[in-house]
Amino acid sequence: MDVQPDTDPAMVLFSPDAADEPHKPYRHLLEQCPVARSDNGSISGAAGASVLISRFEDLNWALKHPEFISSEDAVAIGNDRPLIPLQIDPPEHAKYRRLLDPEFSPKKMAALEPDFRVLVNQVIDQFLDRGECDFHEDFATPLPSTFFLRLTALPLSDLPVFLQWRDNIIRPDVEPGDFDAAAEIRAATGKEIYAYFERALDDRTAQRDHGLLSRLLDAEIEGHSLTREELLDICYLLIIAGLDTVTATLDCMIHFLARHPDERRRLVEDPTLSPVVVEELMRFETPVMVTARTVKQDVTLGDVELRAGDNVTLVLGAGNIDAEEFREPETVDFDRGRNRHLAFGAGPHRCLGSHLARLEVRVALEEWHRRIPDYRIPDGAEFHFSPGIRQTDTLPLVFGSG
Ligand code: HEM
Repeated sequence: MDVQPDTDPAMVLFSPDAADEPHKPYRHLLEQCPVARSDNGSISGAAGASVLISRFEDLNWALKHPEFISSEDAVAIGNDRPLIPLQIDPPEHAKYRRLLDPEFSPKKMAALEPDFRVLVNQVIDQFLDRGECDFHEDFATPLPSTFFLRLTALPLSDLPVFLQWRDNIIRPDVEPGDFDAAAEIRAATGKEIYAYFERALDDRTAQRDHGLLSRLLDAEIEGHSLTREELLDICYLLIIAGLDTVTATLDCMIHFLARHPDERRRLVEDPTLSPVVVEELMRFETPVMVTARTVKQDVTLGDVELRAGDNVTLVLGAGNIDAEEFREPETVDFDRGRNRHLAFGAGPHRCLGSHLARLEVRVALEEWHRRIPDYRIPDGAEFHFSPGIRQTDTLPLVFGSG
């Protein structure tokens, strides 16, 4: 993809092939327009001017100043009310995080590791003898989804319907730019999600189980149980955030390692490198390319005046290759040391599931490379990454003697 210096920044970022090779548009934004404001309608179809923010320092500031750049009204994904905690600003936001953080704490997640390791191996057993697989379909999709349903004690038999909802919400099947059709699909799916969780909460109100929903029913904030609406607004976000992002991250990382045998060999020969491999590839690949905000109070960033009501796209992936923060940012360097990447966001809304995600991705990479150290993408294979949250539509791999 060649980018002309005067091309509209949003067109660059949201062009069809940007998610396949995102560093080119990121570099363009960083070099040409690190804070870009355009009055020509919004890239998301919403009314108002749109702003793209790309520099590490500006992103870090925006993520940490919700009183200026807020997530309250920023995304509409079929939900009737604000998603909790993503669309709640501080100080109210903190009371939800105090309740949810312990559910996803490093200690609690570490206790899940043996169980998860067994699951990874069971998934690999399904296709190892074939000498080939569709990594996206056979590994990256079932693995985190199955684990997430176990964690929430929701029936595994509901997985296909969850995956359909996830796709309808995150990447609805419409012509590019048809925002009305996308909104219609999201609204219909949203109704189904609410109805499903109404039933799931009714069942657990009648009889508690060992899962997260039952614990949320028993939880209290400042002496009060959560209302039914609060419970639904938490469930809605968790199911969307928990099912898609780890799949995308696994696709991005294996795609990279399949095409970079030297880096792969280092990991195979020294599996203790896996935590730094995860962090460096989180930075380099940034599976969640962007996140959305709106301007709440007028503010000047760089020399650009942002106005209350502007729609903001925080280009996390661009910040993660900003040379002001990262030495040789477009090189994957497992010896990088300090790595303050923004792949999980920053500030109050920093990812609630980051410890779970890190555990899943690290153990998946360790077990995959222990059992399948050599693999490649077959010549001529055709696949693409989806924009926004970068997962592949298919990712064929051959291994063994294949
Ligand atoms: C590698 C996988 C993941 C990536 C790359 C990722 C990325 C992110 C990012 C960038 C944000 C910040 C959004 C913003 O500020 O607008 C975020 C927030 C969030 N993530 Fe994740 N995420 C991942 C996995 C998960 C998982 C497994 C869960 C499920 C528990 C989860 C739940 C959440 C929630 C609830 C928030 C909102 C937190 C808040 O508003 O306080 N994430 N994630």
